[in-house]
Amino acid sequence: KQVFQGRSLLAEKDFTRAELEYLVDFSAHLKDLKKRGIPHHYLEGKNIALLFEKTSTRTRAAFTTAAIDLGAHPEYLGKNDIQLGKKESVEDTAKVLGSMFDGIEFRGFSQKVVEGLAEFSGVPVWNGLTDEWHPTQMIADFLTVKENLGRLEGVTLVYVGDGRNNMANSLLVTGAILGVNIRICSPKSLFPEKEVVDMAEGFAKESGSKLVISDNVAETVKGADVLYTDVWVSMGEEDKFAERIELLTPYQINMDMVKQTGNEDLIVLHCLPAFHDAETEYGQDVKEKFGITAMEITDEVFRSKYGRQFDQAENRMHSIKAIMAATLGNLFIPRV
Ligand code: CP
Ligand code: NVA
Repeated sequence: KQVFQGRSLLAEKDFTRAELEYLVDFSAHLKDLKKRGIPHHYLEGKNIALLFEKTSTRTRAAFTTAAIDLGAHPEYLGKNDIQLGKKESVEDTAKVLGSMFDGIEFRGFSQKVVEGLAEFSGVPVWNGLTDEWHPTQMIADFLTVKENLGRLEGVTLVYVGDGRNNMANSLLVTGAILGVNIRICSPKSLFPEKEVVDMAEGFAKESGSKLVISDNVAETVKGADVLYTDVWVSMGEEDKFAERIELLTPYQINMDMVKQTGNEDLIVLHCLPAFHDAETEYGQDVKEKFGITAMEITDEVFRSKYGRQFDQAENRMHSIKAIMAATLGNLFIPRV
């Protein structure tokens, strides 16, 4: 039996440790094929719909180039291009898209929508980020960890910043499944929700992963192998700048925090986009209003030898390729 064929990737909890490890290793294999120029047309003749309610650079670019490298045709359907969420229900849209496309990516707000697309389309659906989870990002992130540290089991990844967003949720649960020790370091008011922590603790019991949720920076970052952060204001919560800056400034990744880890071989990851200088229009706006030029990570750390965020971004393409090929491709994958 082929365990991946026909499945959707909606949230990490639906996949076993062995399956997630397989996706990480398959991503590395496809990366190798790409670097050697060896064709890998596992999706020859397939059509892929890319639905985006929120903006994206990496996820859209990765799905598009991955689909083309796999021999498929990607079609971008932005929120202003289609009726979904306005004149047409999720169910009706899913039925129509499922009759024409072989696979559907969805990025948006609600987890319910991506679940509805999977329920009614009859084709694999891949979650390209919702308010709750960012599962395709996880395969790229743990591939990057494995490439740099040579292993996953027993690695300590410390996520600092907004502990209640999609990235914190996904890292906590995926790390717990994979046997990676995850520490979430954030102010108490931004600790992950109880349901997410309970779910992660359940997985950690099986994998042996050690989980920590704490607001104490010095204690929590000490001994980190990986420091990870994300934006302080996620898509859809743009009215929260002032309160997040106030709350999260002590949780910024800067050289002091890097030193506090006590690990010279530390790597720093960020899913991107990052607020590390005031070069952007958005950055200028925040600088004028709040007088700061960096939020979750300083430019110094971002550009230092520790920062691996651009390798991580490239890995989005290799890992999305693995996810699409495993769930939709013309290839045999043994039961893992
Ligand atoms: N990391 C990530 O998902 O980036 P985009 O929002 O640019 O897709
Ligand atoms: N937490 C961020 C992740 C972006 C990839 C957001 O949802 O905007």
